[in-house]
Amino acid sequence: MKALRTLIPAFLAASPVGAMPQNHLPKQTILGAAGRAKPLGVGHFSEWSRATKKAFLVDWQAGKASEWTIVEGNEGGDLDSMTAALTWAYHLDHISENSSHPIKAIALLQTPSHALDLRPENKLALDNSQMTAGHEDLLTMDELPEDPETLAKKLKGIVLVDHAEPLRKWSHANIVSIFDHHKDRGTAPKAKPRVFETTASCTTIVARQMLDELEQLEEEYHMPHELLELILSAIAIDSGGLTSDKTTKADIETSKRVLARSAWAKKDLEDVMEDLDDQLTSAQKDIDHLDLRDLLRRDWKGDLIDTPSPRTPTVSLGFASVPYSMDEQILKTDFKELFDWFAIHAAWTAEAGVDISITLNKYKQHHKDGSKEKIREIVLTVRDDVRIDQHQANALFKVVKEALENNAEGIELTPWHRADELSNRQMVWTHKSGAGRKIIRPIVEDAVSGWD
Ligand SMILES: *[C@@H]1O[C@H](CO)[C@@H](O)[C@H](O)[C@H]1NC(C)=O
Repeated sequence: MKALRTLIPAFLAASPVGAMPQNHLPKQTILGAAGRAKPLGVGHFSEWSRATKKAFLVDWQAGKASEWTIVEGNEGGDLDSMTAALTWAYHLDHISENSSHPIKAIALLQTPSHALDLRPENKLALDNSQMTAGHEDLLTMDELPEDPETLAKKLKGIVLVDHAEPLRKWSHANIVSIFDHHKDRGTAPKAKPRVFETTASCTTIVARQMLDELEQLEEEYHMPHELLELILSAIAIDSGGLTSDKTTKADIETSKRVLARSAWAKKDLEDVMEDLDDQLTSAQKDIDHLDLRDLLRRDWKGDLIDTPSPRTPTVSLGFASVPYSMDEQILKTDFKELFDWFAIHAAWTAEAGVDISITLNKYKQHHKDGSKEKIREIVLTVRDDVRIDQHQANALFKVVKEALENNAEGIELTPWHRADELSNRQMVWTHKSGAGRKIIRPIVEDAVSGWD
Protein backbone atom coordinates (compact mmCIF):
# COMPACT_ATOMS: atom_id res chain seq x y z
CA MET A 1 0.00 0.00 0.00
CA LYS A 2 1.80 3.09 -1.20
CA ALA A 3 1.10 6.64 -0.20
CA LEU A 4 0.09 8.83 -3.06
CA ARG A 5 2.93 11.23 -3.65
CA THR A 6 3.34 14.19 -5.87
CA LEU A 7 6.02 13.84 -8.50
CA ILE A 8 7.02 17.46 -8.18
CA PRO A 9 8.90 18.55 -5.10
CA ALA A 10 6.62 20.73 -3.02
CA PHE A 11 8.93 23.72 -2.98
CA LEU A 12 9.04 23.81 -6.79
CA ALA A 13 5.36 23.09 -7.23
CA ALA A 14 4.45 25.85 -4.82
CA SER A 15 5.80 28.61 -7.00
CA PRO A 16 4.61 29.42 -10.50
CA VAL A 17 8.19 29.83 -11.68
CA GLY A 18 9.07 26.32 -10.52
CA ALA A 19 9.80 25.13 -14.02
CA MET A 20 12.19 27.94 -14.83
CA PRO A 21 15.90 27.56 -14.44
CA GLN A 22 17.26 28.99 -11.18
CA ASN A 23 18.96 31.95 -12.88
CA HIS A 24 15.61 33.44 -13.86
CA LEU A 25 14.92 34.10 -10.21
CA PRO A 26 15.96 37.41 -8.75
CA LYS A 27 19.44 37.23 -7.34
CA GLN A 28 19.74 36.43 -3.65
CA THR A 29 16.08 35.59 -3.17
CA ILE A 30 14.01 32.53 -3.61
CA LEU A 31 10.28 32.32 -3.52
CA GLY A 32 8.92 30.87 -0.34
CA ALA A 33 5.83 28.70 -0.25
CA ALA A 34 3.65 31.78 -0.02
CA GLY A 35 5.28 33.28 -3.11
CA ARG A 36 6.93 36.05 -1.12
CA ALA A 37 10.59 36.71 -1.72
CA LYS A 38 12.74 35.58 1.21
CA PRO A 39 16.38 36.44 1.70
CA LEU A 40 18.66 33.52 1.04
CA GLY A 41 20.97 32.22 3.72
CA VAL A 42 24.36 33.78 3.27
CA GLY A 43 26.76 31.29 4.78
CA HIS A 44 28.99 28.84 2.93
CA PHE A 45 27.12 26.03 4.61
CA SER A 46 23.76 27.32 3.41
CA GLU A 47 25.12 27.61 -0.14
CA TRP A 48 26.45 24.08 -0.05
CA SER A 49 23.19 22.76 1.34
CA ARG A 50 21.06 24.46 -1.29
CA ALA A 51 23.41 23.48 -4.13
CA THR A 52 23.30 19.87 -2.95
CA LYS A 53 19.51 19.86 -2.83
CA LYS A 54 19.37 21.26 -6.34
CA ALA A 55 21.90 18.73 -7.66
CA PHE A 56 19.96 15.86 -6.12
CA LEU A 57 16.68 16.96 -7.68
CA VAL A 58 18.34 17.62 -11.04
CA ASP A 59 19.85 14.13 -10.99
CA TRP A 60 16.59 12.57 -9.87
CA GLN A 61 14.74 14.19 -12.77
CA ALA A 62 17.47 12.93 -15.13
CA GLY A 63 17.00 9.37 -13.83
CA LYS A 64 20.28 9.34 -11.93
CA ALA A 65 19.08 8.71 -8.37
CA SER A 66 21.36 5.65 -8.33
CA GLU A 67 24.37 7.93 -7.91
CA TRP A 68 23.14 9.26 -4.58
CA THR A 69 23.54 8.33 -0.94
CA ILE A 70 20.92 9.71 1.44
CA VAL A 71 21.99 10.42 5.01
CA GLU A 72 18.89 10.27 7.14
CA GLY A 73 18.19 11.19 10.74
CA ASN A 74 15.21 9.84 12.61
CA GLU A 75 11.68 11.02 11.95
CA GLY A 76 11.45 13.00 15.19
CA GLY A 77 13.59 15.60 13.44
CA ASP A 78 15.25 17.05 16.52
CA LEU A 79 18.39 19.17 16.36
CA ASP A 80 20.65 16.17 16.96
CA SER A 81 19.18 14.14 14.11
CA MET A 82 19.22 17.06 11.73
CA THR A 83 22.78 18.09 12.56
CA ALA A 84 24.19 14.56 12.49
CA ALA A 85 22.69 14.04 9.01
CA LEU A 86 23.92 17.37 7.66
CA THR A 87 27.39 16.83 9.10
CA TRP A 88 27.88 13.41 7.58
CA ALA A 89 26.49 14.42 4.19
CA TYR A 90 28.86 17.39 4.13
CA HIS A 91 31.75 15.16 5.04
CA LEU A 92 31.04 12.47 2.42
CA ASP A 93 30.64 15.10 -0.25
CA HIS A 94 33.92 16.84 0.61
CA ILE A 95 36.16 13.91 1.53
CA SER A 96 35.65 12.57 -1.99
CA GLU A 97 35.82 15.91 -3.82
CA ASN A 98 39.10 15.22 -5.64
CA SER A 99 38.58 11.54 -6.27
CA SER A 100 37.66 10.11 -9.65
CA HIS A 101 34.41 8.85 -8.07
CA PRO A 102 33.09 11.68 -5.93
CA ILE A 103 30.37 10.62 -3.51
CA LYS A 104 27.05 12.34 -4.01
CA ALA A 105 25.44 12.62 -0.59
CA ILE A 106 22.49 14.55 0.73
CA ALA A 107 20.93 14.88 4.18
CA LEU A 108 17.23 14.06 4.39
CA LEU A 109 15.15 15.24 7.29
CA GLN A 110 12.53 12.57 7.79
CA THR A 111 9.92 15.07 8.87
CA PRO A 112 7.56 17.12 6.76
CA SER A 113 8.75 20.72 6.54
CA HIS A 114 5.77 22.01 8.56
CA ALA A 115 6.71 19.74 11.49
CA LEU A 116 10.12 21.43 11.61
CA ASP A 117 8.36 24.66 12.44
CA LEU A 118 7.10 23.03 15.61
CA ARG A 119 10.70 22.99 16.84
CA PRO A 120 11.75 26.55 17.59
CA GLU A 121 15.19 25.40 18.73
CA ASN A 122 15.94 24.05 15.25
CA LYS A 123 14.84 27.31 13.74
CA LEU A 124 17.16 29.21 16.04
CA ALA A 125 20.15 26.92 15.43
CA LEU A 126 19.69 27.10 11.65
CA ASP A 127 19.34 30.84 11.87
CA ASN A 128 22.55 31.04 13.91
CA SER A 129 24.24 29.04 11.15
CA GLN A 130 23.00 31.51 8.56
CA MET A 131 20.75 29.06 6.81
CA THR A 132 17.81 30.25 4.74
CA ALA A 133 14.66 30.77 6.77
CA GLY A 134 11.88 28.22 6.37
CA HIS A 135 14.34 25.31 5.96
CA GLU A 136 14.49 25.80 2.21
CA ASP A 137 18.13 24.70 2.08
CA LEU A 138 17.19 21.33 3.50
CA LEU A 139 15.51 18.34 1.92
CA THR A 140 12.47 17.28 3.95
CA MET A 141 10.23 14.25 3.61
CA ASP A 142 7.40 16.04 1.82
CA GLU A 143 9.84 17.27 -0.83
CA LEU A 144 11.11 13.83 -1.69
CA PRO A 145 10.18 13.46 -5.36
CA GLU A 146 9.45 9.74 -5.17
CA ASP A 147 7.91 7.24 -2.82
CA PRO A 148 10.66 6.09 -0.41
CA GLU A 149 9.87 2.42 -1.08
CA THR A 150 10.68 2.87 -4.77
CA LEU A 151 13.49 5.34 -4.30
CA ALA A 152 15.19 3.11 -1.69
CA LYS A 153 15.92 0.45 -4.31
CA LYS A 154 17.35 2.94 -6.80
CA LEU A 155 19.69 4.79 -4.51
CA LYS A 156 23.32 3.94 -4.09
CA GLY A 157 22.56 3.64 -0.41
CA ILE A 158 21.49 5.25 2.82
CA VAL A 159 23.34 6.17 5.98
CA LEU A 160 21.42 6.03 9.27
CA VAL A 161 22.21 8.61 11.91
CA ASP A 162 20.48 8.82 15.27
CA HIS A 163 18.36 5.73 14.71
CA ALA A 164 19.21 2.07 14.86
CA GLU A 165 17.19 0.64 12.01
CA PRO A 166 15.60 2.10 8.91
CA LEU A 167 11.88 2.78 8.84
CA ARG A 168 9.99 0.11 6.96
CA LYS A 169 9.67 2.28 3.87
CA TRP A 170 13.48 2.37 3.52
CA SER A 171 14.02 -1.29 4.35
CA HIS A 172 15.05 -2.21 0.80
CA ALA A 173 17.85 0.34 0.70
CA ASN A 174 21.49 -0.61 0.91
CA ILE A 175 22.64 0.58 4.34
CA VAL A 176 26.13 1.97 3.92
CA SER A 177 26.85 3.18 7.47
CA ILE A 178 25.16 3.62 10.86
CA PHE A 179 26.03 6.10 13.61
CA ASP A 180 23.77 5.85 16.60
CA HIS A 181 23.40 6.22 20.35
CA HIS A 182 20.28 4.06 20.75
CA LYS A 183 20.11 0.34 21.38
CA ASP A 184 21.83 -1.72 18.67
CA ARG A 185 19.08 -3.75 16.96
CA GLY A 186 21.58 -5.72 14.85
CA THR A 187 20.69 -3.93 11.61
CA ALA A 188 23.13 -4.09 8.68
CA PRO A 189 26.01 -5.90 10.39
CA LYS A 190 28.28 -5.18 7.42
CA ALA A 191 27.73 -1.43 7.37
CA LYS A 192 30.92 0.62 7.61
CA PRO A 193 31.43 2.62 9.72
CA ARG A 194 28.92 1.03 12.08
CA VAL A 195 29.13 2.83 15.41
CA PHE A 196 26.81 2.34 18.37
CA GLU A 197 27.94 4.21 21.42
CA THR A 198 26.28 5.72 24.46
CA THR A 199 26.69 9.46 24.12
CA ALA A 200 24.42 12.36 24.99
CA SER A 201 24.34 13.42 21.38
CA CYS A 202 24.61 11.34 18.22
CA THR A 203 26.24 14.33 16.57
CA THR A 204 29.24 13.62 18.81
CA ILE A 205 29.78 10.23 17.16
CA VAL A 206 29.43 11.64 13.65
CA ALA A 207 31.58 14.72 14.27
CA ARG A 208 34.36 12.66 15.84
CA GLN A 209 34.46 10.33 12.83
CA MET A 210 34.47 13.33 10.51
CA LEU A 211 37.35 15.01 12.35
CA ASP A 212 39.34 11.77 12.49
CA GLU A 213 39.05 11.36 8.73
CA LEU A 214 39.60 15.07 8.04
CA GLU A 215 42.77 15.18 10.09
CA GLN A 216 44.24 12.29 8.14
CA LEU A 217 44.06 14.18 4.85
CA GLU A 218 47.23 15.70 3.45
CA GLU A 219 45.29 18.86 2.86
CA GLU A 220 42.02 19.40 4.72
CA TYR A 221 38.85 20.30 2.88
CA HIS A 222 37.09 23.50 3.91
CA MET A 223 35.16 23.21 7.15
CA PRO A 224 32.66 26.07 7.43
CA HIS A 225 32.37 27.65 10.86
CA GLU A 226 28.56 27.56 10.53
CA LEU A 227 28.66 23.76 10.49
CA LEU A 228 31.02 23.65 13.48
CA GLU A 229 28.68 25.91 15.42
CA LEU A 230 25.66 23.82 14.48
CA ILE A 231 27.51 20.75 15.79
CA LEU A 232 28.27 22.48 19.09
CA SER A 233 24.62 23.52 19.35
CA ALA A 234 23.37 19.97 18.86
CA ILE A 235 25.78 18.56 21.44
CA ALA A 236 25.02 21.39 23.88
CA ILE A 237 21.26 20.92 23.88
CA ASP A 238 21.45 17.14 24.30
CA SER A 239 24.06 17.26 27.03
CA GLY A 240 22.69 20.22 29.00
CA GLY A 241 25.77 22.23 28.03
CA LEU A 242 27.98 19.19 28.82
CA THR A 243 26.74 19.13 32.43
CA SER A 244 23.90 16.58 32.39
CA ASP A 245 24.30 13.00 33.66
CA LYS A 246 24.08 11.78 30.08
CA THR A 247 27.28 13.60 29.09
CA THR A 248 30.14 11.27 28.22
CA LYS A 249 33.86 11.78 27.73
CA ALA A 250 33.28 11.52 23.99
CA ASP A 251 30.80 14.44 24.07
CA ILE A 252 33.34 16.60 25.92
CA GLU A 253 36.40 15.60 23.88
CA THR A 254 34.60 16.05 20.57
CA SER A 255 33.18 19.42 21.60
CA LYS A 256 36.71 20.54 22.44
CA ARG A 257 38.00 19.56 19.01
CA VAL A 258 35.07 21.22 17.25
CA LEU A 259 35.34 24.40 19.32
CA ALA A 260 39.05 24.72 18.48
CA ARG A 261 38.15 25.01 14.79
CA SER A 262 35.13 27.27 15.26
CA ALA A 263 34.84 31.06 15.32
CA TRP A 264 34.60 30.73 19.12
CA ALA A 265 37.98 29.02 19.47
CA LYS A 266 39.28 31.60 21.93
CA LYS A 267 36.34 31.18 24.26
CA ASP A 268 36.03 28.77 27.13
CA LEU A 269 34.34 25.46 26.26
CA GLU A 270 32.12 25.43 29.34
CA ASP A 271 30.93 28.99 28.72
CA VAL A 272 30.16 28.37 25.06
CA MET A 273 28.27 25.17 25.74
CA GLU A 274 26.34 26.63 28.65
CA ASP A 275 25.33 29.68 26.60
CA LEU A 276 24.22 27.54 23.66
CA ASP A 277 22.25 25.24 25.93
CA ASP A 278 20.51 28.16 27.67
CA GLN A 279 19.64 29.82 24.40
CA LEU A 280 18.40 26.67 22.67
CA THR A 281 16.60 25.23 25.68
CA SER A 282 14.60 28.39 26.19
CA ALA A 283 13.71 28.39 22.48
CA GLN A 284 12.75 24.72 22.79
CA LYS A 285 10.43 25.53 25.67
CA ASP A 286 8.71 28.25 23.71
CA ILE A 287 5.86 25.95 22.74
CA ASP A 288 3.15 27.07 25.14
CA HIS A 289 1.14 28.34 22.18
CA LEU A 290 0.94 24.89 20.54
CA ASP A 291 -2.33 23.00 20.77
CA LEU A 292 -2.59 19.29 21.55
CA ARG A 293 -2.53 18.19 17.91
CA ASP A 294 0.69 20.13 17.28
CA LEU A 295 2.22 18.76 20.47
CA LEU A 296 1.50 15.22 19.30
CA ARG A 297 2.95 15.92 15.83
CA ARG A 298 5.96 17.84 17.09
CA ASP A 299 8.08 14.88 18.09
CA TRP A 300 6.38 11.93 16.44
CA LYS A 301 8.06 8.64 15.57
CA GLY A 302 6.31 5.68 14.07
CA ASP A 303 6.88 2.57 12.02
CA LEU A 304 5.40 -0.76 10.96
CA ILE A 305 6.17 -3.85 13.03
CA ASP A 306 5.77 -7.42 11.84
CA THR A 307 4.20 -10.02 14.08
CA PRO A 308 5.12 -13.71 13.83
CA SER A 309 1.78 -15.32 13.12
CA PRO A 310 -0.30 -14.98 9.94
CA ARG A 311 -3.32 -14.38 12.18
CA THR A 312 -1.64 -11.28 13.55
CA PRO A 313 -0.74 -8.94 10.71
CA THR A 314 1.83 -6.18 10.49
CA VAL A 315 0.80 -3.32 12.76
CA SER A 316 1.64 0.33 12.81
CA LEU A 317 3.10 1.87 15.94
CA GLY A 318 3.55 5.56 16.76
CA PHE A 319 5.27 7.42 19.59
CA ALA A 320 4.70 11.02 20.60
CA SER A 321 6.82 12.81 23.20
CA VAL A 322 5.16 15.73 24.92
CA PRO A 323 6.74 17.95 27.58
CA TYR A 324 3.49 18.54 29.51
CA SER A 325 1.49 16.44 31.94
CA MET A 326 -1.77 14.84 30.92
CA ASP A 327 -3.63 17.36 33.11
CA GLU A 328 -1.90 20.29 31.38
CA GLN A 329 -2.55 18.82 27.94
CA ILE A 330 -6.23 18.42 28.70
CA LEU A 331 -6.36 22.15 29.42
CA LYS A 332 -4.93 22.78 25.94
CA THR A 333 -7.92 21.14 24.24
CA ASP A 334 -10.98 23.09 23.11
CA PHE A 335 -13.29 21.70 25.76
CA LYS A 336 -10.55 21.40 28.40
CA GLU A 337 -11.83 17.99 29.40
CA LEU A 338 -10.52 14.44 29.32
CA PHE A 339 -12.83 13.24 26.53
CA ASP A 340 -11.42 15.93 24.23
CA TRP A 341 -7.84 14.78 24.78
CA PHE A 342 -8.82 11.34 23.51
CA ALA A 343 -10.90 12.79 20.66
CA ILE A 344 -8.05 14.99 19.38
CA HIS A 345 -5.54 12.23 19.90
CA ALA A 346 -7.75 9.77 17.99
CA ALA A 347 -8.14 12.21 15.09
CA TRP A 348 -4.35 12.50 14.89
CA THR A 349 -3.67 8.72 15.10
CA ALA A 350 -6.32 8.17 12.41
CA GLU A 351 -4.54 10.66 10.18
CA ALA A 352 -1.15 9.06 10.92
CA GLY A 353 -2.66 5.60 10.36
CA VAL A 354 -1.39 3.97 13.54
CA ASP A 355 -2.90 1.02 15.35
CA ILE A 356 -0.97 1.45 18.59
CA SER A 357 -0.11 4.84 19.93
CA ILE A 358 2.15 5.60 22.86
CA THR A 359 2.36 9.14 24.19
CA LEU A 360 5.26 9.81 26.51
CA ASN A 361 4.76 12.85 28.71
CA LYS A 362 7.23 14.42 31.05
CA TYR A 363 6.93 17.34 33.40
CA LYS A 364 8.23 18.70 36.68
CA GLN A 365 6.15 18.53 39.80
CA HIS A 366 6.75 21.43 42.20
CA HIS A 367 6.52 20.49 45.86
CA LYS A 368 5.55 22.80 48.71
CA ASP A 369 9.09 22.78 50.11
CA GLY A 370 10.36 24.26 46.84
CA SER A 371 11.83 21.03 45.49
CA LYS A 372 11.01 19.72 42.04
CA GLU A 373 10.50 16.19 40.83
CA LYS A 374 10.55 14.84 37.28
CA ILE A 375 7.44 12.84 36.52
CA ARG A 376 6.74 10.85 33.39
CA GLU A 377 3.50 9.45 32.01
CA ILE A 378 2.83 6.76 29.45
CA VAL A 379 -0.43 6.81 27.50
CA LEU A 380 -1.32 3.64 25.62
CA THR A 381 -4.17 3.41 23.12
CA VAL A 382 -4.99 0.83 20.43
CA ARG A 383 -7.31 1.49 17.48
CA ASP A 384 -9.43 -1.17 15.80
CA ASP A 385 -10.00 0.54 12.45
CA VAL A 386 -6.57 0.76 10.81
CA ARG A 387 -4.92 -2.60 10.20
CA ILE A 388 -6.52 -4.73 12.87
CA ASP A 389 -10.05 -5.56 13.95
CA GLN A 390 -11.61 -5.21 17.36
CA HIS A 391 -10.71 -8.68 18.55
CA GLN A 392 -7.07 -8.25 17.51
CA ALA A 393 -6.95 -4.74 18.97
CA ASN A 394 -8.14 -6.03 22.35
CA ALA A 395 -5.51 -8.76 22.34
CA LEU A 396 -2.76 -6.38 21.28
CA PHE A 397 -3.67 -3.85 23.95
CA LYS A 398 -3.39 -6.59 26.56
CA VAL A 399 0.02 -7.75 25.26
CA VAL A 400 1.51 -4.25 25.26
CA LYS A 401 -0.05 -3.33 28.61
CA GLU A 402 1.41 -6.44 30.22
CA ALA A 403 4.82 -5.89 28.63
CA LEU A 404 4.91 -2.36 30.03
CA GLU A 405 3.67 -3.35 33.47
CA ASN A 406 6.06 -6.29 33.73
CA ASN A 407 9.07 -4.61 32.13
CA ALA A 408 12.53 -5.90 32.94
CA GLU A 409 13.99 -2.39 33.11
CA GLY A 410 12.84 -1.77 36.65
CA ILE A 411 10.33 0.92 35.67
CA GLU A 412 7.58 0.98 38.28
CA LEU A 413 4.33 2.10 36.70
CA THR A 414 1.49 3.52 38.75
CA PRO A 415 -1.97 4.01 37.23
CA TRP A 416 -2.65 7.71 36.55
CA HIS A 417 -4.90 9.46 39.09
CA ARG A 418 -7.83 9.50 36.62
CA ALA A 419 -7.24 6.01 35.22
CA ASP A 420 -10.75 4.95 36.31
CA GLU A 421 -12.22 7.43 33.79
CA LEU A 422 -10.50 5.75 30.86
CA SER A 423 -12.32 3.68 28.33
CA ASN A 424 -11.70 0.51 26.39
CA ARG A 425 -8.08 0.13 25.15
CA GLN A 426 -6.89 3.27 26.89
CA MET A 427 -4.39 3.32 29.73
CA VAL A 428 -2.29 5.99 31.40
CA TRP A 429 0.47 5.36 33.92
CA THR A 430 2.93 7.59 35.73
CA HIS A 431 6.48 6.75 36.74
CA LYS A 432 9.57 8.41 38.13
CA SER A 433 12.20 6.14 36.59
CA GLY A 434 13.56 8.63 34.08
CA ALA A 435 13.05 6.09 31.28
CA GLY A 436 12.17 7.92 28.06
CA ARG A 437 11.49 6.80 24.52
CA LYS A 438 14.93 5.17 24.10
CA ILE A 439 13.95 2.61 26.79
CA ILE A 440 10.17 2.39 26.29
CA ARG A 441 10.16 1.98 22.52
CA PRO A 442 12.12 -1.33 22.45
CA ILE A 443 9.87 -2.75 25.20
CA VAL A 444 6.77 -2.03 23.14
CA GLU A 445 8.31 -3.11 19.84
CA ASP A 446 9.49 -6.41 21.30
CA ALA A 447 6.03 -7.03 22.77
CA VAL A 448 4.35 -6.36 19.41
CA SER A 449 6.78 -8.47 17.41
CA GLY A 450 6.23 -11.32 19.87
CA TRP A 451 2.44 -11.03 19.73
CA ASP A 452 0.96 -14.33 18.67
C1 LIG B 1 40.96 18.78 -2.97
O1 LIG B 1 41.82 19.70 -3.62
C2 LIG B 1 41.78 21.04 -3.09
C3 LIG B 1 42.70 21.89 -3.97
O2 LIG B 1 43.98 21.34 -4.02
C4 LIG B 1 42.20 21.03 -1.65
O3 LIG B 1 42.11 22.33 -1.11
C5 LIG B 1 41.30 20.09 -0.85
O4 LIG B 1 41.73 20.00 0.47
C6 LIG B 1 41.32 18.71 -1.50
N1 LIG B 1 40.36 17.85 -0.79
C7 LIG B 1 40.67 16.67 -0.26
C8 LIG B 1 39.56 15.93 0.38
O5 LIG B 1 41.78 16.19 -0.27
